[in-house]
Amino acid sequence: MSESASEGSAAAAAEPTVITVGQGNGTGGPELGYGVVVGNGLLARLPELVGAQAERVLVIHPRALRATGDVVREDLEKAGYQAVTAEIPDAEEGKHIQVAAFCWQVLGQNDFTRTDAVVAVGGGAVTDLAGFVAATWLRGIRVVHMPTTLLGMVDAAVGGKTGINTAEGKNLVGSFHQPAGVLADLDTLATLPRNELVAGLAEVVKCGFIADERILEIIEENPEAAQTPESAELRELIERAIRVKASVVGQDVREAGLRESLNYGHTLGHAIEHAERYQWRHGAAVSVGMIFAAELARSLGRLSDGDADRHREVLTSLGLPVSYRDDRWNQLLEGIRRDKKNRGETLRFVLLSGIGKPATVEIPDPSILFATYQEIAEPASPTISL
Ligand SMILES: NC(=O)c1ccc[n+]([C@@H]2O[C@H](COP(=O)([O-])OP(=O)(O)OC[C@H]3O[C@@H](n4cnc5c(N)ncnc54)[C@H](O)[C@@H]3O)[C@@H](O)[C@H]2O)c1
Repeated sequence: MSESASEGSAAAAAEPTVITVGQGNGTGGPELGYGVVVGNGLLARLPELVGAQAERVLVIHPRALRATGDVVREDLEKAGYQAVTAEIPDAEEGKHIQVAAFCWQVLGQNDFTRTDAVVAVGGGAVTDLAGFVAATWLRGIRVVHMPTTLLGMVDAAVGGKTGINTAEGKNLVGSFHQPAGVLADLDTLATLPRNELVAGLAEVVKCGFIADERILEIIEENPEAAQTPESAELRELIERAIRVKASVVGQDVREAGLRESLNYGHTLGHAIEHAERYQWRHGAAVSVGMIFAAELARSLGRLSDGDADRHREVLTSLGLPVSYRDDRWNQLLEGIRRDKKNRGETLRFVLLSGIGKPATVEIPDPSILFATYQEIAEPASPTISL
């Protein structure tokens, strides 16, 4: 569930918006009830979230955000904390056990106790790593996330999933550890490369299809504004997507069932990421995955032509990919078979029966998947014709 500090249109308001994760439904458990603050210039709010009990704070940031990490540290020092920084490698290079070990070393050398805190400044890779470090140090200390990518704001920083990669695959080691709070400072998006911003929008679109049609309408009305960091439209999209995630994770803290809807487009998406050796952005792969899911639902007679076509229109308007090379089916099927939603040999997909109506559906006959692949396939290389 969610709430806003400001009344009326959040997009028009200069005041920060506070969205509470897991409050009010009675099933969240004691670890929920934290706020996700969305707005501009939010640094001043950090001490409030770090809390009065902490004396020491470790700020974990990637190389690319050294200047931001330093500002955060200085601000914490001014507020009276003993603050140290740990600079980690960018992106997936940071989600490594040796990087976690380096952070544990910094915590140990600076005598961090159970009441001290970690602050993550960065994209989803940093919030995943820093969350894992906080979850494991002294069996769990406070963590505050300051996501600096769109994906981090609407997805990775909300919901308490933390993790690192191993040689065997991505996110295989991790834990659930809810943050004490999340500060999504929209100012940080100004330096985010455009392809990262657009990739993050795929998760926003996903929230539109599974739960909030207004998200789709905002993009349809002005796709350019949706991609502009300082626009009121993007702020409203971010807030709406966070509300969708907050509502779902508040009702399903440890991924027992309902959270599967957040996996819309991810079954084929993950298979594409794997087939591409993670050279595709996650959001781009999920974009194609949503087209695949829409075509599959259409073939099964679950989704109308209009709703299925809308997927292609919205994602194309943002410049996200809607097709994939036609010579990779066996690799993709292998990836689909590895999906965590499957039960034994039975393949399961999140499909829509309308906008805002997701359900996990068993696919008894995989041949329909190959037929659906033809709907998204494009020639792997240009055909030479005489
Ligand atoms: N825990 C979850 O629930 C969850 C959900 C979704 C994704 N994830 C994880 O999130 C990760 C992907 O996150 P991401 O897409 O944010 O990518 P990322 O964290 O890898 O960041 C992408 C790149 O942008 C740089 N960067 C970050 N913020 C910037 C800024 N403001 N300006 C300029 N550069 C900036 C980073 O240093 C990095 O090089 C994956 O590891 C994925 O597994 C976790």
